[in-house]
Amino acid sequence: MKGEGMKDTSNRKKQETVKEKDKPLTENPHDIPERQIPQETLEQEAERLLENLLSDKDNAFLTEHEENKKRLDEFSSAVQALAFALKKIDERHERTSRLTLASPEVLGVEIVNVNPVGIRKNVEEILKHAMEIGRGGDAIVVVDKSEVRSLPPEICYKFAITETTPRGRNSTFSEIALQEAFYKANMEVPESKIGVPIPFYAHEVGIHKVIAMEKLNAKSVDDILHSKGTLPPWFDVDTFCDELHTVLDHFHAKGLYHRDMHEGNIMISQQKEIGDGDKIGFIIDFGLSVQDDTGIEPYKKQVAGTTFTYSDDYGIIKRVQTALKTYQKTHLA
Ligand SMILES: Nc1ncnc2c1ncn2[C@@H]1O[C@H](COP(=O)(O)OP(=O)(O)O)[C@@H](O)[C@H]1O
Ligand SMILES: [Mg+2]
Repeated sequence: MKGEGMKDTSNRKKQETVKEKDKPLTENPHDIPERQIPQETLEQEAERLLENLLSDKDNAFLTEHEENKKRLDEFSSAVQALAFALKKIDERHERTSRLTLASPEVLGVEIVNVNPVGIRKNVEEILKHAMEIGRGGDAIVVVDKSEVRSLPPEICYKFAITETTPRGRNSTFSEIALQEAFYKANMEVPESKIGVPIPFYAHEVGIHKVIAMEKLNAKSVDDILHSKGTLPPWFDVDTFCDELHTVLDHFHAKGLYHRDMHEGNIMISQQKEIGDGDKIGFIIDFGLSVQDDTGIEPYKKQVAGTTFTYSDDYGIIKRVQTALKTYQKTHLA
């Protein structure tokens, strides 16, 4: 039963009635059992769980609060809308344990989107069940095998390692502040086909420096070129490169410069099918990024008397275009 004033005005198409075999897996969306759900029923299931959540009086703030309602209606997929709703509920329930991230280098960036469920989690626990999903020069990215859920958002954890080559890397807290800034800027252009993983929180415990974020169903261009992923059938190299260009224009207009654009930091969705609102790729890793509204020398950084110079964000695009076209010819012909 829907609560009063809970008129569903969302853009999402109404799903067909759930068939017997696709019956709900659980009544409590916080308690999702470990079980693979066929892709096609995910949307139906998410829509149903979302309706349950929204009809609960305790969650009225989700539809009464203008901003939340607007966001919920804007999602083209019920899975994304559900993920957003769950995140908001978690935040509300445990506001007291919310992390406030100080960010001296990124003044004015508001840090609010943390995941309290994650904060409660002991870093050692994560490490005990860690399975590596990626590695760069500055970090190892893992998922916690004990928390694999059937419904998104899945979380991954980026653990900083000692910088191999000093490049003026951002602190963990600055990095997540910048990821937040890029993520918010990206949300202003929902038509963009390139996304940014949702930042959840950053935590420093003893020697561990960790950023928790949305785990993408995507592979880096670098991984794909080394056959650790593939180009999905719907993928178009030129569209992808145009989209990269456009989203970088938008970030730059906001004073946001990535400064570490290379094959390991550009990811391509591995979804077998792609919907209208879905992202075809992502920009990740804000370890060298900056928010510089002056735009005077955005590719330079001074750290204790040393000047670091970074490559232009657009430089990578041509290289990726050529490499992916060669890959298509040799691997997918
Ligand atoms: N949100 C994510 N979802 C899935 N894989 C990721 C995610 N973030 C990073 N990875 C994987 O981990 C690798 C290293 O992450 P990255 O943030 O680039 O670390 P570094 O700062 O060390 O370069 C990436 O190239 C990618 O393969
Ligand atoms: Mg990287």
